Amino acid sequence: MALKMDNITDTLTITQPDDWHLHVRTGTILKTVIAHTAQQFARAIIMPNLKPPVTTVEHALVYRNEILAALPEDSDFQPLMTLYLTGNTRAEEIKKVAESQQVFAFKLYPAGATTNSDDGVANIEAAYPIFAAMENHNVPLLIHGEVTHADYDIFDREKAFIDNHLTEITRQFPALRIVFEHLTTQDAVQFVESASDNVGATITPQHLLYNRNAILAGGIRPHFYCLPILKREHHRQALLTAATSGNPKFFLGTDSAPHLSHLKESACGCAGCYSAHAALELYAEAFEKADALDKLEGFASFHGADFYGLPRNTGTVTLEKRAWTVPMQYGETDNLITPLRAGEQLHWQFVNH
Ligand code: NCD
Ligand code: ZN
Repeated sequence: MALKMDNITDTLTITQPDDWHLHVRTGTILKTVIAHTAQQFARAIIMPNLKPPVTTVEHALVYRNEILAALPEDSDFQPLMTLYLTGNTRAEEIKKVAESQQVFAFKLYPAGATTNSDDGVANIEAAYPIFAAMENHNVPLLIHGEVTHADYDIFDREKAFIDNHLTEITRQFPALRIVFEHLTTQDAVQFVESASDNVGATITPQHLLYNRNAILAGGIRPHFYCLPILKREHHRQALLTAATSGNPKFFLGTDSAPHLSHLKESACGCAGCYSAHAALELYAEAFEKADALDKLEGFASFHGADFYGLPRNTGTVTLEKRAWTVPMQYGETDNLITPLRAGEQLHWQFVNH
C-alpha cells in the first residue's frame, strides 16, 4: 500500500488512480479535457454517448485513436472503451467486445435518461437476451440507473429504477457483472451493499460534496445540474459513508461531463458537471471532511481495477495541502467550459511531476 501521509508538509501520496466513468467528447473539447484527466489518472472508462453513439467495436477503436492523438506528448494514459447499448445491439457485438483488448463494457442508458441518450434502450426487458450474452461472455454492463417516465418525480427516478428493473436484472442474471453508475441515493447504496460481489458502483465528487441545495437554494446554479440530479443531504451522507467504508464495491468514477458554458447557462441548460480539472482534489476534500483520507487510495486506485479484473497501477501521485483558486473557465475561445468550483478555492492541489 503506497498511502503516505506526511503531517509536517501535509502531502498525501497514493497509488496512481483510475477514473471508472468519464466523458471526453470529440474535437476541440477533447483536447482540453483529456489533458486534465491524463495528468491525474492512468486509465479511464470512456463513455460512448457521442452523437451518433459508439455502438460497434469498430467505432470504438476509431474513437480510441482520436483520444490517443489528442493526448499531451509523453502521456501513457490508457482510454478503456465502452459501447452504447441500443435496442438493436446484436449478440455478435458482445462476442466482439469479449475478444477485444480495447473495449471493456457496454453502457445501458434508458432512452431519454440523460445527455445524448435518445438512442438508448426503450424497453429494458426486451434487452434480456443481450444481458444473457454479456453474462455468458463475462462482459460488464454499466448502468445509468434512472427510470425516464414523466410520471416519476426526478428525485425518485433512481429508486424507481432499482425497484422496477435492477432488482429483477440481478435476479435473472446472477453472474452478470454490473456497475451501477454514479450512485445518488441511500437506496442505491443499500442495494449495492446487499447485492452479490458481481455488482459494483461508481460515485462522483459532486454527489459526495453537495446536496440539492447547491443547484436551487439562493439562485439557480446550472453548473451543479447533472444527472442523476443531486439529492437530499441524508443521501449525500450515505454516499460518503459508502465511499469511505473501505468496501471494495464502491469506486471512483467522476462522471466528468464537459458542456460548453453557454449551453449550461441557458433557459434549458444541459446536464453534466465538469470535474476533471481537479478530480482528486475534490475527492480528497470529501474524504478529509469525513476524516477518512486513509480510505481514499482503496476507493480511487484499487477497487475499480480489482472489479474490472485489471492490474493495479504501480506509480504514485501526490497531493499537497495548498490553497488555489479554480479558473473561471477552461478551453479555447468559443469552446469554453465552466468547471466545478469555478472561481472558488480548493485546499488540496495535485503536484505536477
Ligand atoms: C452526462 C453527459 O453529459 O454526457 N451528463 C450527466 O449529467 N452526467 C451523461 C450521464 O452520465 O448521465
Ligand atoms: Zn456519465
